[in-house]
Amino acid sequence: MPRHIMLVVARIVADGPATRRLVLRDPDGWPLPRCRPGAHLDLHVPGVGPRAYSLCGDPVVQDSWEIAVRREAESRGGSAWVHDALSEGDAVAVSMPRCTFPIADAASRHVMVAGGIGVTPFLAMACEFERRGADWTLHLLSRGEPPCASALERLAQTGKIRIHDTTRTARPGWEAMLGASAAPGLHAYCCGPEVMLDGFAHATQGWPTGTTSIEHFVPPPLPAAEGAVRYSLRRSVAGTEMVVESGESMLTALRALGAKVEASCEGGICGACEVRWLEGEPIHRDRVLTPERRRTHLMACVAQCASERLVVDA
Ligand code: FES
Repeated sequence: MPRHIMLVVARIVADGPATRRLVLRDPDGWPLPRCRPGAHLDLHVPGVGPRAYSLCGDPVVQDSWEIAVRREAESRGGSAWVHDALSEGDAVAVSMPRCTFPIADAASRHVMVAGGIGVTPFLAMACEFERRGADWTLHLLSRGEPPCASALERLAQTGKIRIHDTTRTARPGWEAMLGASAAPGLHAYCCGPEVMLDGFAHATQGWPTGTTSIEHFVPPPLPAAEGAVRYSLRRSVAGTEMVVESGESMLTALRALGAKVEASCEGGICGACEVRWLEGEPIHRDRVLTPERRRTHLMACVAQCASERLVVDA
C-alpha cells in the first residue's frame, strides 16, 4: 500500500440521497495538516485499492477532514464499502491530500458548475471564497434532492448558490451559467459526470488559456500517444535502467526498477504518480499538470516517450 495515515471515522452523517458524509479525525486528537481548497485524498478500500474523494469541509478546520460519498449504482467497490461496511469508530487508511483542482488565485470572479456529488470540492472552495470576500457563484445541477444538503444549507445564506433540480425545471444553458464569453477576471470550474465536463469544455473552448478548470471523477479515454517510441528509462538516483516498449506503462517500468512511485487513478487525473524528469522527451497524456509543470514533471501512469532515452529523478 502507498504511504498513508490512519484516521478514525468520528461521525457518519446521512447527507442527501444515497450520500454519506464522513468526518475523519486523528485517533489521538492531533490536528491534521491544513489542506488546500479543491484537494482530494485517497481512501484505501480493503480488497479494492485507493479511491479518491474530494475534501468537502472548510479547509481551515484542522481537527477533522470531511469527505462525502454517494452510493454509485455501478460501484467499483469504493462507495458500496463506505455505505455498507463502514461504521463510526472504524479506522481507515487515507493518503495525504493532493490538490489538482486549485482555486485560481489571480481571478476576480469565480463561477463553479457542479453535477450531483461533483459539488464536494466546491463546498471547500466556497468556504475559502467567503473568507476572502471573493465574488463567486455555485451552480449545482441535480436530479432531485441535491447531495450534501447540510453543507449547502450552511452556505445558502450567502445567496451565491443556485440549485437547479433538473426533474422540475429545464437544465440551464451554459451561457446562462457562465456568460456569453469569457469576461476579464472570470475563472470557471466544472466537476461532474463526463457528459457535463464535455459540455463545459465545448462551451468554453474559445476562452483564454488558464481561465477554466475541470475535475474528473473517473479517468477519461487517453489521448493517442503520437510519436511514442521504444526507449531506455533511467533512474538518476539509483543508476538503474531498462528498455520500455512503446505503449508499455512507465509506472510499471519504474516500479520494476525499484522506484517507490505512488498511484491511485492510474488514468492521469489524480496527481499521485508525479515524477520529475531530467532528460528526454516525454509525451504527456495526463489531465492534471499545467504546461509549465510539464517542463519538469510527468505523470508516470499515462506518460509515454518520444526520445530514445528518458532520465527521471527517482
Ligand atoms: S495514478 Fe493518478 S495520475 Fe497517475
